[in-house]
Amino acid sequence: MKLHGLGYVGFSMPDPSVWLSFGTEVLGMMPARALPGEQSGQMGSGLGAESSGSGVAPDGSIYLKMDDRQWRIGVHPGDAVGLAYIGFEVADDVALAVAVAEIEATGTPIAQGTPEEASARGVQGLAWCTDPSGNRVEVFHGPVQDRHFVSPTESEFLTGELGLGHLLMMVPDIEASLGFYRGVLGFKRSDFISPVPGISLHFLRCTPRHHSIGLAHLGPINAIHHLMVEMTTIDGVGAALDRAMDAGYTITKTLGRHLNDRMVSFYLKDPLGFDVEVGFDGLIVDDATWCEHEASGGEPWGHRGMNVPIPAEIREGGKP
Ligand SMILES: [Fe+2]
Repeated sequence: MKLHGLGYVGFSMPDPSVWLSFGTEVLGMMPARALPGEQSGQMGSGLGAESSGSGVAPDGSIYLKMDDRQWRIGVHPGDAVGLAYIGFEVADDVALAVAVAEIEATGTPIAQGTPEEASARGVQGLAWCTDPSGNRVEVFHGPVQDRHFVSPTESEFLTGELGLGHLLMMVPDIEASLGFYRGVLGFKRSDFISPVPGISLHFLRCTPRHHSIGLAHLGPINAIHHLMVEMTTIDGVGAALDRAMDAGYTITKTLGRHLNDRMVSFYLKDPLGFDVEVGFDGLIVDDATWCEHEASGGEPWGHRGMNVPIPAEIREGGKP
């Protein structure tokens, strides 16, 4: 199967409106012009949608737009704080059928999404399965593209064929997770980092973006580490850093360049309690020439706050 990148991500938290402010005022995303399942209105303006471009659904869910797509990030009300679903895109309905057959052939249970489930994502069709950490993984085709993205902060995100960015997840069973993302979904491993025995990070791609999924094994922790969104300019990163600091958000890693995907970025703590990485200049991988390797030697510069020894309680399974 050929996955075309991370198409959408959903989270859950008790009050999604907090993430709406964070996503728009700090990251520079836009409330969805129309919600999934709503008509977009004349010329995709959102004027005909019941939500009136607020990005807020009747149940309190919020939807954020980053580009031409109707939405990229959804946050839903719920007691549990964390990841609700991840959506990977395929080319069309035929490609979805092929993906489902290939996933089933590995012995992984996969369910066809109902028309209601597809409508809730604003797509033509989807199927879903569960990764070894219990995360809901959806494969979809035919998203709504209602265009007219206008950032409230004049931000521009690098998306398109690269997908919305990347997600790094901490997983308790690294071999099972690698088996799922590489063996079942067909991701390729760009590189990996193994700083100390028993700790490893693996960076997996399904587009030319160096990685769309990162898997970190830090003991038996099962949680999101960070979501990365990429700006089209370094000025976009700097301006986001200013906005984050002005609004009082905690900067968890200072501006720096990563050793493996070469991203110049900073990290901040989001209202869910995990990190968001805002970056620029991430590596584009050429499948024809790239071979995986172990990345070592430390960060070229910056990212203070990251290069600290891994605390014993994390190695032994405590909460980060
Ligand atoms: Fe990252």
